Amino acid sequence: MNELAVEAIGLEKSYGAVRVLSGLDLQVPRGSVFALLGPNGAGKTTTVRILATLTRADAGQARVAGLDVVRERGRVRRRISLTGQYAAVDELQTGEENLRMMARLSGVAKPRARARELLERFDLTEAGRRRAGTYSGGMRRRLDLAAGLVAEPSVIFLDEPTTGLDPRSRQQMWEVITDLTGSGVTVFLTTQYLEEADRLAGRIALVDGGRVVAEGTASELKRRIADQRLDLVLADAATYDELDRLLGGRVVHRDPAGLTVGVETDGSAAHVRTLLDEIDPRRDAVRTFSVHSATLDDVFLALTGHQAARPVPETTDV
Ligand SMILES: Nc1ncnc2c1ncn2[C@@H]1O[C@H](COP(=O)(O)OP(=O)(O)O)[C@@H](O)[C@H]1O
Ligand SMILES: [Mg+2]
Repeated sequence: MNELAVEAIGLEKSYGAVRVLSGLDLQVPRGSVFALLGPNGAGKTTTVRILATLTRADAGQARVAGLDVVRERGRVRRRISLTGQYAAVDELQTGEENLRMMARLSGVAKPRARARELLERFDLTEAGRRRAGTYSGGMRRRLDLAAGLVAEPSVIFLDEPTTGLDPRSRQQMWEVITDLTGSGVTVFLTTQYLEEADRLAGRIALVDGGRVVAEGTASELKRRIADQRLDLVLADAATYDELDRLLGGRVVHRDPAGLTVGVETDGSAAHVRTLLDEIDPRRDAVRTFSVHSATLDDVFLALTGHQAARPVPETTDV
């Protein structure tokens, strides 16, 4: 019995001269939430499309629910859902009618009961009587997700499930995704948001430039870089330049606008005192300092060389 819900080895994909995936490997345990985290253009959607059998890789192999995505494509399709892809929601029908129809189409024994159960689970019981065309962005995505679950897939792919949602809808979506776990289903999501990966995923693969640059739990990833950091706010720009040059490779964080450099520390008073004495023997270079615990942001920056995206709350979500 294969304990992996998703396994990919050496996936490669190019579009013309553009190399999108360059040897991507993944191992996703069953029954977990897994996040493929990476900036725009990293290759997340391409990976999902290959795993969901919508695109073929140029090289490499992938198995989903223990099945080969190329040789057993039809069987893979019956075991997965891909939000927003297979779920063709009819705007003119109510949420409940949509789910009932999909349940009938996928041969579910009790379509009406299944529809009701899903509406309840996704907080759409009230809305279920209204036409889907009237739904807000958040409700629409929950209905999409419910539609994808009608046939009880074992792997659910969610490609950037909260991008473009306002903070409240994002929060609701997070709750829904969290509720999915425990039912034995595997959730494979992609996101640009560290906070989302940190909150939802048991394991995270950080993808950049079409390959996985780091993989592990959020805390394992954080431990890969310095757990803690001493941030020094310096007296002026000249001091900043001088210390930045002097400390060289020891600087793990730089904020020129804030005149701040960060160096590794274990956070103990003794170590901080030693560092301050060493870096600022005349006691005029450092204005203030703080000890900072590593975040996924730091990991992302350290491993990819660029900053992660921030959720940009939209003012409307209709
Ligand atoms: N069908 C396509 N034709 C040409 N280029 C593509 C196609 N799909 C994706 N790309 C390119 O591949 C890169 C990765 O895309 P994608 O997988 O969508 O990344 P992500 O989902 O991480 O933002 C991007 O540079 C994108 O422009
Ligand atoms: Mg994408």
